[in-house]
Amino acid sequence: MAPKSLSDLKRKDLLQSKGYINEEWVSANSGKTFDVYDPATLEKLATLPEMGADDADAAVSAAHAAFASYKKTSARQRARWLRKWSDLCLEHADDLALILTLENGKTLVEAKGEVTYAASFLEWFAGEAERVHGEVVPSSNLNQRILTFKQPIGVAACLSPWNFPIAMITRKVGAALAAGCTTVWKPAGETPLSSLAQAVLAQEAGFPKGTINVITTLNQVAEVGEALCTNKLVKKVSFTGSTRVGKLLASHCSGSVKKLSLELGGNSPFIVFDDAKLETAIEACILAKFRNSGQTCVTANRIFVQKAIYDKFADGLATKIKTLKVGAGTEDGVFVGPLTHERAVEKALSHISDAKKHGGQVVLGGEAMKDLKGYFLQPTLIKGMNREMITTREETFAPVLGLYEFDTEEEVIGLANEADVGLGSFIITENIPRAWRVTEALEVGMVGVNLGMLSACESPFGGVKESGYGREGGRQGIEEYLSVKSMLINVAN
Ligand code: SIN
Repeated sequence: MAPKSLSDLKRKDLLQSKGYINEEWVSANSGKTFDVYDPATLEKLATLPEMGADDADAAVSAAHAAFASYKKTSARQRARWLRKWSDLCLEHADDLALILTLENGKTLVEAKGEVTYAASFLEWFAGEAERVHGEVVPSSNLNQRILTFKQPIGVAACLSPWNFPIAMITRKVGAALAAGCTTVWKPAGETPLSSLAQAVLAQEAGFPKGTINVITTLNQVAEVGEALCTNKLVKKVSFTGSTRVGKLLASHCSGSVKKLSLELGGNSPFIVFDDAKLETAIEACILAKFRNSGQTCVTANRIFVQKAIYDKFADGLATKIKTLKVGAGTEDGVFVGPLTHERAVEKALSHISDAKKHGGQVVLGGEAMKDLKGYFLQPTLIKGMNREMITTREETFAPVLGLYEFDTEEEVIGLANEADVGLGSFIITENIPRAWRVTEALEVGMVGVNLGMLSACESPFGGVKESGYGREGGRQGIEEYLSVKSMLINVAN
């Protein structure tokens, strides 16, 4: 039988209910706490320290002290620790997935996928650690030689979101530790348990004292975010979350001119051309929309379908959506879990009612599922979407699928690029020259062709415009935690 509650954990010590500073499990200085709930049942899972700016400063001091020796460790040693951590994640995948499902709501199948994805970043950055190197640069001055070095930047603050609490930690922290940086983690208040479990495994993998510190908070997140971004000992901040918060953190970081990477909101266009294979288009759209109940930064938000196949595609999607089982992530066969917040349901309902007001026709769903205890929304399909609707400008972040109709390639590129943000995008076409043309024309950081998921540790993840800057994963991910130093040598006699 599939595990259902935290009492089913095989390794009980993976469930921690304290913050983690300098190799000790600690309460908040203030003694305050907050509770974590299961969004599928609204049952309380744990009570955690409500940490504040003073706790964040203590974590930064521990990371700063550890940096003095950690930066001198060999890349090979760091790679070994990362590989060991990756192995431990896979060994305890069932427990990690259960914690993740209970606090986030995603299905156990998806949660296990996220654990594998998380481990892949650790393995990837273990490899990258040893590939970091500078270069010898030809000088125009014959009496000089020029070399460059890459050095770890210092303490890295990693602020991770609630939608991928395990993988976004390893995508950031894996790169930071590989580069030789020490870390302070600030997981989302809704989903801190997965990160704390990861801290247990990272420590077990052998990372030295003070290299890993975890601050837990729900209600003092603004204060903690500001403390991390303004502390001069922090040299790098990496944040995944909303564009609104990203802008605020960027302003806090400007005071000490900190290196910053921001993976912010998207409004992904999903473009189906009339030469597409219908089956591929439907399968990719279901994945791009319903993964994590529509709560991914790259979720298909504006589905543009070329006129000639609009009705056929809509009918095929409706048939498929009707087969998707909704329920708690721990239940067998469930494809769509709850939303992580109550306010997410309210936001989705307001987008649906706005679409109806502007002429959209709700073909399926459209209501909250009041018969279930948690934050559930019926998988929803809306036809007749147009530019007047909120969803055109804002991510819905829920299992709501709105179909827009278009005529020409040129028209759809214009529509897709109207957004202020540019993170993910999807193109479904059998025409390879068209795939190239549209990929080059889209103002986004990532394009998926004939697929519905952009996640791969080898591929740089990030956006353009108000979706932020910097890249995670890929060859580029580790560079975010390094600085380049040049050395100019006089070789004249
Ligand atoms: C995100 O939603 O930010 C991450 C999604 C992914 O890496 O697949």
